[in-house]
Amino acid sequence: MFKNLFIILLIVLFIIGCKESTKSPKKDYTMKSKNILIVYFSYTGNTEAFAKKIGKITNGTIYKIQVPQEYIENVDKLMACYAKGDSEEKMAKYKKKLYDIEITKFDKKISDYDIIFIGSPIWDRTISPPVVEFLKQNNLAGKVVVPFVSHGGWGPGKSFEDIAKLTQGATVKDGLAISERSIPTEKKLVEWINKAIN
Ligand SMILES: Cc1cc2nc3c(=O)[nH]c(=O)nc-3n(C[C@H](O)[C@H](O)[C@H](O)COP(=O)(O)O)c2cc1C
Repeated sequence: MFKNLFIILLIVLFIIGCKESTKSPKKDYTMKSKNILIVYFSYTGNTEAFAKKIGKITNGTIYKIQVPQEYIENVDKLMACYAKGDSEEKMAKYKKKLYDIEITKFDKKISDYDIIFIGSPIWDRTISPPVVEFLKQNNLAGKVVVPFVSHGGWGPGKSFEDIAKLTQGATVKDGLAISERSIPTEKKLVEWINKAIN
């Protein structure tokens, strides 16, 4: 009787042992297990395309900073002046209005996220005013911040430094700047994201 019980016990222990050893190894703390938010502003769609790629790779939540229609119309007028080769004086009033900015209040909770990607087009060698305004309104202290910018060929300017200044208390990772003429490959994006968030 006891001998049989002992054999059954051995068999049960053997089965449990086999199950444990075939379990997949503990997964690394991957990007899918982190709460990722991708906040961006985009005027012509380049930063938006970049943000969507990051969203697809990280499975993060995407949020576009919203500005009033008049703000966009003012940028359109400024761009039309550039295209016509208008004088600096003529453009001055439109340029000034770029910094007179109101954005729609952020409707999510920053506390729900660990890692926040911040994306902007480069305007006048730095991040665009809507992104500056977002960073002034939302305290990212204690978060991991990952900057990304899209530029017209003159590089990121002082955008990464400015993001760091506006996110005091956050851990700011290496940003990625892309030119509107060269979208990075998925491989390069994945490498940058992995380095930034792991
Ligand atoms: C008002 C304004 C200012 C700009 N200033 C710069 C600049 O200083 N350096 C640069 O490389 N590109 C500059 N650009 C080009 C944009 O950074 C570039 O086209 C970017 O890819 C646009 O991103 P978006 O499509 O997300 O708006 C400027 C564009 C605008 C509308």
